Amino acid sequence: MNAPVLEVDDLHVRFGSEREPVHAVRGVGFTLDAGTVMGVVGESGSGKSTTAKAIAGLVPIMQGSVRFHGGPVRHRPGPGGVQMIFQDPIASLNPHRQVRDVVAEPLLITGTSLRRARSQAAEALADVGLDPDIFGGRRARQLSGGQAQRVAIARALLARPALLIADEPVSGLDVSVQAGIINLLHRSVTEQGTALLFVSHDLSVVRSLCESVLVLYRGETCEQGPCSHVLGNPQHPYTRSLIASVPEPGRSLAQVPVASVSAPDSSSVG
Ligand SMILES: Nc1ncnc2c1ncn2[C@@H]1O[C@H](COP(=O)(O)OP(=O)(O)OP(=O)(O)O)[C@@H](O)[C@H]1O
Ligand SMILES: [Mg+2]
Repeated sequence: MNAPVLEVDDLHVRFGSEREPVHAVRGVGFTLDAGTVMGVVGESGSGKSTTAKAIAGLVPIMQGSVRFHGGPVRHRPGPGGVQMIFQDPIASLNPHRQVRDVVAEPLLITGTSLRRARSQAAEALADVGLDPDIFGGRRARQLSGGQAQRVAIARALLARPALLIADEPVSGLDVSVQAGIINLLHRSVTEQGTALLFVSHDLSVVRSLCESVLVLYRGETCEQGPCSHVLGNPQHPYTRSLIASVPEPGRSLAQVPVASVSAPDSSSVG
């Protein structure tokens, strides 16, 4: 069997000062194989983005290790590298560049001709529901949040990464657009063997896209494992409260329980 694309072991990230430390990630560990998707869920502030950024090498790791194909994470723009879609897509795009060049960038860096790269970028824009004739010539700063998010997704997919870290990639999008983007991500996983780390607060999307899920609570792993086990038969009260807080049609907000749980104990980590 091939080695995992991503191996994360005992990951710890700490922000702040010695006097006021924020221990944002505490001992997270998992592996991710090619052609598989793992969801990362948890309430706001639970450490999802910090985990994602630490894996991408964008925040310093205090303890633990991250291995990509058995070695350090190196950002290679071309196929087989690591790409990240950020939770704040506007900040992640160069505001002054034209959208077609933002999307084409991973191809241009690896030596594809401008004409070919732009033509592929146009296709990638169309795939995410943005008309290349309308949006290709715009500056990134002229985009709405949802449009910028789709541009970031188009660019990341065009790079054909071996590992794609997607931090809330569909959260700012209309439901009708979300489904198309989820399909694109799914195709990248099944057709190109991309390993996808999918951060989301939407459990229904996680259920439909991911084989496995990691539930974070205050920076710690609360539960992890196959989606069917963790979401179908949650062992920890926090996971249960997360599932119970998903609004269902016909259920009034007054019936949705407010999460009130204690920190996970070590027996539930696994
Ligand atoms: N650069 C930073 N400096 C200091 N503290 C930080 C920094 N980034 C994140 N934190 C803190 O780390 C914790 C985890 O933040 P993180 O952004 O990872 O949460 P999240 O699960 O992604 O939340 P959300 O669902 O709101 O995106 C929070 O307490 C946050 O305030
Ligand atoms: Mg986040």
